Amino acid sequence: MNIRRWVRPEVLAMAGYQPGEQPDGARPLIKLNTNENPYDAPPAVLQALTEVDCSRLRLYPEPSSRPVREAAAAAYGLRPEQILVGNGSDDLLTILMRTFVAPGATVCVPEPTYSLYHSLCQLQGGHFVGIPWHDGWQLPLSALLAQQAALLILARPNAPSGHVVPLQQVAALCQQSPGIVVLDEAYVDFADDNGLALLHTEENLVIIRTFSKSMALAGLRIGLAFASPALIEQMHKVRDSYNVNRLSQLAAVAALGNLAAYQPSLQAIRQQRQRLSSALRQRGFQVPDSQANFVLATVPPGPRSGADWLATLRQEGILVRYFGSDPALRQQLRITIGTPEEMQQLLAAIDRLLA
Ligand SMILES: Cc1ncc(COP(=O)(O)O)c(C=O)c1O
Repeated sequence: MNIRRWVRPEVLAMAGYQPGEQPDGARPLIKLNTNENPYDAPPAVLQALTEVDCSRLRLYPEPSSRPVREAAAAAYGLRPEQILVGNGSDDLLTILMRTFVAPGATVCVPEPTYSLYHSLCQLQGGHFVGIPWHDGWQLPLSALLAQQAALLILARPNAPSGHVVPLQQVAALCQQSPGIVVLDEAYVDFADDNGLALLHTEENLVIIRTFSKSMALAGLRIGLAFASPALIEQMHKVRDSYNVNRLSQLAAVAALGNLAAYQPSLQAIRQQRQRLSSALRQRGFQVPDSQANFVLATVPPGPRSGADWLATLRQEGILVRYFGSDPALRQQLRITIGTPEEMQQLLAAIDRLLA
């Protein structure tokens, strides 16, 4: 069958985004591959889900997730008109592409970064330009600006490196870019600072956040976008009419009303990140300072390649993430920060492999 007649050339040409493995739970595995939170959401948040009135499930949810926008506005000192809610932040990235990237327009990112940006740009028929980070994960500011992109995306902290670009450079990007600047703050709750204050001064800035990492609700798919009311109004036109389901809206409101209850788990993850980074460095891995809930570890010199490490750790029952299709990441493993026990088991497995 010649499907080429029917499928859009952009879709035929692309490989498609490869999500990390989500095991079925049949075999006990230590899951350090997709940056979920190793701790459950606080009891008050989980409790909210048990109190759902199931007879309301036959009705559509509030189309614009108004209760979530109001709770987020109160939590982050914004107005509800400055907020759009997504079915995860991946949904918001799709909305951003569809709102701001005309066919052939340029989307520019520093690379390596979250590879979904590339896939979504291809789907949109945009022109994708990845500019390599300068040595030491420094921002290639002038090369990014030279592209005059319709959409410039910066993950801060970046994935998979975990490093953060100084906020002055984010402001400079906004001020000197002719297009929209997206600051992807998926991991910002694990970092020392965030870009929210820039919303007051930078009219072309859109910040996106997710409930999948720090908020421990990856299974519910919830994300937030913050921008000026004028930009948010246009993005509302592009989203699916009912893009966030009732259960997710309930949980999001509960999470936003219980932000303080998340602090102990965030603190524990930051502490484990420090411990794991030092322990890996002692074992010969190179690990840049991370402000996210993962580290990017370059494997020690020796016979075992990055791909070998991935495979042997899997045999030990430990899943980590490997991006070997990117030549810049062949010798690196991205390791999610887990509980102290999980980190101990990881280090014990590494010690066995190095022995
Ligand atoms: C940088 C970055 N942005 C966005 C996402 C998407 O998060 P979600 O769609 O679960 O909100 C991820 C997920 O891994 C990510 O690493």
